Amino acid sequence: MDVLTTELNQLLRQASGTTLWLVDENIQLDMPANPAVLVVGNRFDVIERLQQCGWDAHFSDFDLSALASAGFDQIIYRVSKEKPVVHYLITAAQRLLRADGSLSLLGDKGEGIRTYARKAEACLEGTRTEQKLGPNSWHAHIRQGNGTGPCPDHQHYSELRPACADAQRQYWSKPGLFGWNKIDRGSALLIEQLPAMLGSSLPLPGKVLDLGCGFGYLALNVADSTTALVCSDNNAAALRACRYNLDQAGLQQAEVIAADAGDRLSPGFDVLLCNPPFHSGFSVDGDLTDRFLHAARRLLSAKGSACFVVNQHIPLERKAIGLFADIHTHLDSGQFKLVRLRQPINLQFQRDS
Ligand SMILES: C[S@@+](CC[C@H](N)C(=O)[O-])C[C@H]1O[C@@H](n2cnc3c(N)ncnc32)[C@H](O)[C@@H]1O
Repeated sequence: MDVLTTELNQLLRQASGTTLWLVDENIQLDMPANPAVLVVGNRFDVIERLQQCGWDAHFSDFDLSALASAGFDQIIYRVSKEKPVVHYLITAAQRLLRADGSLSLLGDKGEGIRTYARKAEACLEGTRTEQKLGPNSWHAHIRQGNGTGPCPDHQHYSELRPACADAQRQYWSKPGLFGWNKIDRGSALLIEQLPAMLGSSLPLPGKVLDLGCGFGYLALNVADSTTALVCSDNNAAALRACRYNLDQAGLQQAEVIAADAGDRLSPGFDVLLCNPPFHSGFSVDGDLTDRFLHAARRLLSAKGSACFVVNQHIPLERKAIGLFADIHTHLDSGQFKLVRLRQPINLQFQRDS
């Protein structure tokens, strides 16, 4: 366990007054629930796991509007990857902390923890103490002062906005989603090649799943109002943006479902589209690819096709052996691979074939 996790666990164990713990994807928790702590987080899998352990945990895109001003003695936050999120939560702390309450920020130097600590000190007009936990890791403790100082710019974190466009449409999105303001080049390649990969034209009929949908780029480019479309992600900001874009495109029939690698979804999809994540928090997580492949096997119908795009270095074809009987690399661009998987090896396939 790294020093930041050890410190976080200790803070959570010792928390006694009304405490708010803001959490995203960067946790490894080894302790039972502390009833003094209210948890708000934007990752479905993290919040679900905490709820199962008995924590009072709530899933949202850090919607803190229902929480009373000056209602907390302490706020604990291991900083996120993205600056607007951190700035937004420092700004929220100004409102939520009572006089003399404290904000604990944890993070590494490379993540900007020391700059964030200074910004929080200015925003809270408080006093800052810092503890070095390891060669690069810090715990900054900022005590609320007048709480009327200038807060860092969070670029209207909560609001969806036009973020990027192609010849077809404008995509709305927001900070809080990985790569929120650009079209992923791998995903664009997948859409371009999809008719050739599947041997059928777009839009797609039947049951279609966009697994790890982000703001809905893949779904929006393959569906029309007759497609039985499901979009799923674990990120609350992604789910909000995706729902908005689908509605704007007249795809109100589509379902948008919060799930951890599709764990809440029922099987039977004719086509599954996926640009899987390979980053979890600050680390590269190879296990995520495996989890998305296992989900694809479970969710695909016996005669369906799963179309993946991955960075060239990810051994998706090798990982798919034993899960799918038909593994076909449709294209290797030198940067991205497009892989089509058919005939999931599971009980349903064995029964149907
Ligand atoms: C590379 S992005 C692809 C986004 C979108 N499909 C596109 O093509 O632009 C991967 C997506 O997987 C989501 N994701 C990461 N971990 C997940 C998990 N455990 N369960 C579901 N979705 C996850 C991320 O939030 C992100 O939206």
